[in-house]
Amino acid sequence: VPVPLVDTFGRAVTYLRVSVTDRCDFRCVYCMAEHMTFLPKPELLTLEELDRLCSAFVARGVRKLRLTGGEPLVRRDVMTLFRSLSRHLDSGALEELTLTTNGSQLARFASELADCGVKRINVSLDTLDPQRFRALTRWGDLNKVLAGIDAAQEAGIHVKLNAVALRGENEDEIPSLIEWAHGRGMDVSLIEVMPLGETGSERVDQYLPLSTVRARLEERWTLEDIPFRTGGPARYVSIPETGGKLGLITPLTHNFCEGCNRVRVTCTGTLYMCLGQEDAADLRSPLRASESDEKLHAALDDAIFRKPKGHDFVIDRPGRAPSVRRHMSVTGG
Ligand code: GTP
Ligand code: 5AD
Ligand code: SF4
Repeated sequence: VPVPLVDTFGRAVTYLRVSVTDRCDFRCVYCMAEHMTFLPKPELLTLEELDRLCSAFVARGVRKLRLTGGEPLVRRDVMTLFRSLSRHLDSGALEELTLTTNGSQLARFASELADCGVKRINVSLDTLDPQRFRALTRWGDLNKVLAGIDAAQEAGIHVKLNAVALRGENEDEIPSLIEWAHGRGMDVSLIEVMPLGETGSERVDQYLPLSTVRARLEERWTLEDIPFRTGGPARYVSIPETGGKLGLITPLTHNFCEGCNRVRVTCTGTLYMCLGQEDAADLRSPLRASESDEKLHAALDDAIFRKPKGHDFVIDRPGRAPSVRRHMSVTGG
C-alpha cells in the first residue's frame, strides 16, 4: 500500500489542485498579459491521463481535489473528467471534488457539476460594476458570470466568491461586494495580489494589503476571528451585521505556508510543489512510461521531498521582475 505524501517539514499533502487547461476566455489584468501564447493542444495530458494522475494522488492520501485552469470549464469535455473522478467521492476516498471558475460557462455546467457531487465552488469576481468588470477582465461580460452564479445556486451548489483586492480598482467596492454576496448566502474571500508572470501592469500599483482593508472594514462592521477552515489558505472572520463569512488570503501580510497541505499539477503534467517557487517535477514522463503507476509514485516521493518551506513573494517597487516567472494561469493559483 503506497504511503501518504509527507514533506520534510512534516506537512501532509492532502489537497491537489489540477490545472486542466492554461486557456481562459478572460484576461484578468493581475493574472495574464493581454496577448498570451497558449500551449499547443497535443502537449496536454488527455482526460484519461489527468484522471490517472489524480487517482494516483488520491491513493496517496489526497482528500480534496480542485480543478483549475486557466478556466477549467473551457477544457473540452471536462465534465467527463468530473464524472469519472466522482467515483472517488462515492468510495469515500475523496472528501471534496470542486473547481475554481470565472463563472462564464457556469450556467451551462452547473447542474452537471452538482450531479458529479460538487457541493461548493469558488467563483472569481472582483467587481459588480459591468464597465469595471470589462476592464479588469479585458473583455468579460459580467452578466454571464451573474447568470452562472444563479445557476449554481439553483443547482444547490454553495458558491464562494474570490476577489483580488486591487488598489484604486475595486477597493472602494469591497464593502458593497461583501454585502451583496452575504445577502445572497455567499461567503467571500479577499486575496492579496501575488507577483507571478509579466502582465503588463505593475503589481506594486495594484497591491493592496489586506491589513489595510481589514482595518477599514472594522470601522464599519464587527469582524470576529473564527476557527472555521476549508483546507485552503484563507483565515476567516464572521461579520454579524451582514450574516456571512469573510476569508482573508494574505500571502504578503500574514504568511500561511506553515500550514501548507497542497501541491499543484499543470495540464502538461508538471508538478509544482509551491505556488511561489519555480522548482517543478515532470510527472508526464513517468505517467507515460508504463501502465503501472510505480514510476509515478517514485516521482511523487522524490518531488514531495523537495517541497520548499514557502514562497518568497516580494512586491516593493516598480519595474521589479515578478518573483515567479510563470503566470498564475499555468497553475490556476
Ligand atoms: P477553499 O477550498 O475555498 O479554501 O479554496 P482555496 O482558497 O484553496 O482555492 P481557490 O482556488 O479559491 O484559491 C484562492 C486563492 O488562494 C487564489 O488566489 C490562489 O492562488 C490562492 N492560493 C491557494 N493556494 C495557495 C497557496 O498554497 N499559496 C498561496 N500563496 N496562495 C494560494
Ligand atoms: N494574485 C492573486 N490572485 C490571483 N488570481 C489570479 N491571479 C492572481 C494574482 N496574480 C486569482 C483569481 C482566482 C484565483 C484562483 O486566483 O482571481 O480567483
Ligand atoms: Fe504552500 Fe507555497 Fe502556497 Fe506557501 S506559497 S502555502 S508553501 S504552496
